[in-house]
Amino acid sequence: MELKGLKPLFSQKAIQEITKRLAEELIREYRDKNPVFVGVLKGSFIFFADLIRELKLPLEIDFIRVASYGRDTVSSGKVSILKDVELPIKGRHVLIVEDIVDTGITLKVIYNHLKEKKPASIKICALIDKRERKKIEIDLDFVGFVVEKGFIVGYGLDYDERYRYLPEIYTLEEAP
Ligand code: IMP
Ligand code: MG
Repeated sequence: MELKGLKPLFSQKAIQEITKRLAEELIREYRDKNPVFVGVLKGSFIFFADLIRELKLPLEIDFIRVASYGRDTVSSGKVSILKDVELPIKGRHVLIVEDIVDTGITLKVIYNHLKEKKPASIKICALIDKRERKKIEIDLDFVGFVVEKGFIVGYGLDYDERYRYLPEIYTLEEAP
């Protein structure tokens, strides 16, 4: 798709291939574990839906939502939980499914929050790892794409709530 101000980054085909590869890794890890996959709203919703449909294994799903950037594109460093998981995850194998990791602050907060509920294990799957502004070293167990920098939209990811519906991934030409 040609869109003003957006530069194509990853095609639908590339996304599909990456999702399949991640699914294979996850099947190896979670076969026989009946895990709980926790999607981080809103950004991960499309990736999450595509990913779980590639995983032919028993699992349960839940969602968590944290305060987002709003109009700002730089993480404020303050993150609060707006919506918690609803399933009891004590003793369960938990996978956090995130769209993109930038500074790492959001994921760290979610990770620590879920850890307090005493799951049997807790791992992270991120579609995109953005390297440039990493402030917190956090282990990403399953990673799709790695990008150096830029502001990325489409396939669930937004800039000020725009572009989530795009089936491909783009970079904003003028970084906000
Ligand atoms: P972090 O706390 O800096 O790692 O920011 C992570 C959150 O910020 C993600 O869950 C996204 O919602 C949002 N975010 C970070 N970078 C981008 C981007 O390039 N495009 C869209 N959203 C982003
Ligand atoms: Mg997000």
